[in-house]
Formats: sequence, C-alpha cells, structure tokens
Amino acid sequence: MKILSFGSLNYDHVYEMDHFVEPKETQSSLAYARGFGGKGLNQSIALAKAGMEVYHAGRVGNDGQDFIDYLNKYGVNTDYLLKDDSLATGHAIIEVCKGQNCIILHGGANQAIDERQIDEVLTHFEKGDVLLIQNEISNLAYLIDKASEKGLLIVFNTAPMNEKVFTYPLNKIDIFIVNEIEGAGLAGSESKNYEEIIACLKDKYPGKKIVMTVGESGSYFICDDLLVHQDAYKVEAIDTTAAGDTFTGFFLASYLKDKDIGKALDLAAKASSITVQGKGAAQSIPGIEEL
Ligand SMILES: Nc1ncnc2c1ncn2[C@@H]1O[C@H](COP(=O)(O)OP(=O)(O)O)[C@@H](O)[C@H]1O
Ligand SMILES: [Mg+2]
Repeated sequence: MKILSFGSLNYDHVYEMDHFVEPKETQSSLAYARGFGGKGLNQSIALAKAGMEVYHAGRVGNDGQDFIDYLNKYGVNTDYLLKDDSLATGHAIIEVCKGQNCIILHGGANQAIDERQIDEVLTHFEKGDVLLIQNEISNLAYLIDKASEKGLLIVFNTAPMNEKVFTYPLNKIDIFIVNEIEGAGLAGSESKNYEEIIACLKDKYPGKKIVMTVGESGSYFICDDLLVHQDAYKVEAIDTTAAGDTFTGFFLASYLKDKDIGKALDLAAKASSITVQGKGAAQSIPGIEEL
C-alpha cells in the first residue's frame, strides 16, 4: 500500500520588523529567516516519520529545488513533484512585529495543479492505495473524482476551511481529519461546544469516518454511533505548529496498518505531544522510534 500525499509546498519568508510597512514606506527588516511550510509538506513528512512509504505530488517553480531536497532528506519520494519554470513556488511573506504578524500568501505553483498532472500522477497508483489531501491546491474536485474512480481510499484534511470545500464531491471522501474550527465549518455549526459539533457532523456525514482534534482537550473519532475520545498527553507546549499535521500522519499510519482506532488515536496524541514541545514545523515531528 502506497500513500499519495497530493498537497501544498510553501516557502515561509519571515521578516522581523520594527513596525508594519505602511503605504509609500520602504523599511529595512531587523532579521530574516526562510522556512519550509505548507500543510501538504508537513503531513508528508509526518507520514514518512511514522514509517510509511509516501509519495508527495505537487508543483513548485524553478526556485523549488530546495523543497525536493528537503522532502528527500526525510525519506519522502518526489518522483511526482513537478517543476514548472513559468511559475513561482507557493510562498508566504510574513512580517512579524511585537508578537503579531501580517501575511501575504501567494499560492503560485500550488494553484496550477491541473487535470493533466492529476491524470498522470494517478496512473502510478491503484486500488488499495491511499490519497491524502488538504485544501491548499487547485482542482481538488477533479482529483477526488478520479481517485475515487480508481478505488483509492481518500483522506481529506479540510484545512484551511472555506466555502470551496462544499463544492467538492464530499460523498467520495472516506476519512475526514479536522480540528475544532474545521469541524464546526464542515458541520455548518456556529457552536463552540464539541458535543454539538459532533452531533451535527454525525447527522450531516452518515457512514463517514471523522477525526476531530481539539488541541489540549485531545481528539475524537466519530462514525455514526461510534464515538471514541482520546485525551491529549500533558506536556509543556512551546510551539504548537504542526501539531495537527503530526496527528494526521501518525493516526493514518497506525490506522492503515492495524485498523485499531484506539491505538491510532493514542499514537497520534503521543507523537503530537512531542511536536508541541519543539520549535518549528517539520523538525519538531518525532520519528516512530522515539515513541
Ligand atoms: N498543548 C498541547 N499539549 C499536548 N498535546 C497537544 C497540545 N496541543 C495539541 N496537542 C495534540 O495535538 C493534536 C492536534 O492539535 P490541534 O490543535 O487540535 O490541531 P491543529 O494544529 O490542526 O489546530 C491534539 O489532538 C493533541 O493530541
Ligand atoms: Mg488547534
């Protein structure tokens, strides 16, 4: 069984500023750092660290070679990652000032994934393989339709949650993975109460497997009348970046192997409790041997 993680890759350009740039102003930054981001990237790395055979498909511009090297370093296969010289790699320009930030996000090559690329990539996968997607690339409706026709198991992390999600053929999704905000959005619920959100999700998506993570309060697995809760591990959190992505990777790896929901939730909680104790995204995700 192979996992196809078809998702976003974003350079994060982070500038520390004295104040946010104003109209007509040119201001020098106090510091600069470049990071590797994108939900697709983090989830591919989490899956690889959890011991799975992962193929990351996606698109980068001619400035995207570093992404290929980075994914390879973590053992992710990049044979289906397309380099497109006519486009910029997806990126975020992030101004940071006194703990707040302003962000320009440019989808770039992530938004240029087309039917041709999807068709080509899917020729390398077959029934029984798994497709993992998030909501950061173009042509997702087509990708879901085609993967479903081929008999792939489809896992959808609906982040970032927006109205576009409801234009996709959600009946073809096998497993949804959401946090509480995405869960409420998917349920169409205004409530902040987990029980109410879960009741709405159950109603709206009968027969679907839904994993909803709720930060420090742990996670839930929902499928019709089955409801399993998992506590978060009590740790001192330093940086919760990639907590959800770690959870997704380790939950899937374990669930696909053993089909044991309790065990998969517990392993995912353990792995993400390690991620929140380290700074940054991919580098704070633990390896399976650390668990
Ligand atoms: N402060 C924390 N302490 C321990 N575990 C945490 C903490 N924050 C998150 N986690 C773990 O990470 C999982 C995912 O976190 P969550 O915040 O729900 O995802 P997201 O990053 O998508 O918002 C949680 O279910 C929990 O197991
Ligand atoms: Mg959260």
